[in-house]
Amino acid sequence: MVSDPPRFVAEVEPLAKNGECVAVNPNGKVANEFLAQLEEAHKSAFGEIKKFEEAASNLQFEGKTSIGRNLKQVRSSLDFFRSSLLQHIDLEEKILFPFLKLHIPKLESVIHLVVTEHEDARRNFDDLELFLDSLSNQMSEMDRAKMMKKVQDTATYLVYLLKNHLRVEDKGIYEVAGHELKVEEKKELEGAMGKFLSKP
Ligand SMILES: [Fe+2]
Ligand SMILES: [Fe+2]
Repeated sequence: MVSDPPRFVAEVEPLAKNGECVAVNPNGKVANEFLAQLEEAHKSAFGEIKKFEEAASNLQFEGKTSIGRNLKQVRSSLDFFRSSLLQHIDLEEKILFPFLKLHIPKLESVIHLVVTEHEDARRNFDDLELFLDSLSNQMSEMDRAKMMKKVQDTATYLVYLLKNHLRVEDKGIYEVAGHELKVEEKKELEGAMGKFLSKP
């Protein structure tokens, strides 16, 4: 994922102990660039989930004329999840979570939970793609209705799963990491994340 500019307007303030200069936000907290990147990924995921949710719910309630448009949106959101969101998930599993388990051991159980959810999300992305691919005009009306129901049910489940997942990570992992990692650890993590994301 392309990294955005820092979230805070950086001011420079010397640290009393070692004279090292760090960027701080207007409230005087140490800037957490690694956090800003993670939160940005969640923000765009939430935006896409909203469009996905609307399209999936419209499939159920709108007339036949808009089915094509809504299916197109469901497919385009799925493409986003399988590219951007899976890249974010990969970053969490390969860089962020191993680092946090090492430096904040109490996060181990919540990390275990969210990794299980990653697996669930991957499985449901695959299912949804399969159901979308199976839809065809050659199907009988009844088979098509059954397949549409599978698309809707899987999409509804994914909306619930992803929203909950992102909230748990925001509050239960990212916020804790922002408070508990030392400045040097944050820098080390930021470097490792940057290296991972810049890989072709
Ligand atoms: Fe995650
Ligand atoms: Fe995440």
